[in-house]
Amino acid sequence: MYGMVNKAVEEMVVLHHGEAVWEQIKTKAGVDVEVFMSNESYSDDITYNLVGAASEVLKVPAEQILIGFGEHWVLHTAQEGYGGLMSAAGKSLPEFLQNLPDFHSRVSMIFPHLQPPRFRCTDYTDRSLKLHYYSHRPGLAPFVVGLMQGLGKMFRTPVTVRLVEAKASGADHDVFEVTWQAAPAP
Ligand code: HEM
Repeated sequence: MYGMVNKAVEEMVVLHHGEAVWEQIKTKAGVDVEVFMSNESYSDDITYNLVGAASEVLKVPAEQILIGFGEHWVLHTAQEGYGGLMSAAGKSLPEFLQNLPDFHSRVSMIFPHLQPPRFRCTDYTDRSLKLHYYSHRPGLAPFVVGLMQGLGKMFRTPVTVRLVEAKASGADHDVFEVTWQAAPAP
């Protein structure tokens, strides 16, 4: 994955736990990269090892780290670094979700070697939809849950996310039921 992902993991850990804990996590993960370059590609193993080591050092399940990282990704990495792309993708949570299938094609203009996830929305109602998530990378469903929670906060829209079909349990791909309440008036 592009270095910006590892950089974002670093930012999240340093924000909540400080530099010393981050160094401990890097050492445990066997990662000797001093500075991650946003635009350079790194092996996915580095990201997985960092998450695994963070889980051990912080004594928090890896799923919980990934959920937190999803929120951090939306509320810090994406909003602060790519605010234009984020606001162009929708004015409300349901609008953003409906545009999500096309989102990373725009990101690919900035990161040409991106291997993005694929999303598809079905079963729309005015308060819910099903989000289908396809990736060649295993184990990232909790990251998607965190991303949805981050979007809920970004749009000040209370949201519930439930994994209703799991690739890890033999389904073709992960399917989430995303349910939201009305956003407060601006
Ligand atoms: C402007 C904001 C965003 C940028 C710049 C961005 C960029 C990236 C990058 C660089 C990766 C790593 C993949 C690679 O390097 O090949 C990635 C992965 C991913 N992104 Fe985004 N992204 C953004 C917003 C979002 C949003 C809003 C969502 C969903 C709500 C999302 C969902 C994901 C997921 C699930 C992955 C994990 C990769 C996988 O499943 O295979 N991203 N993105």
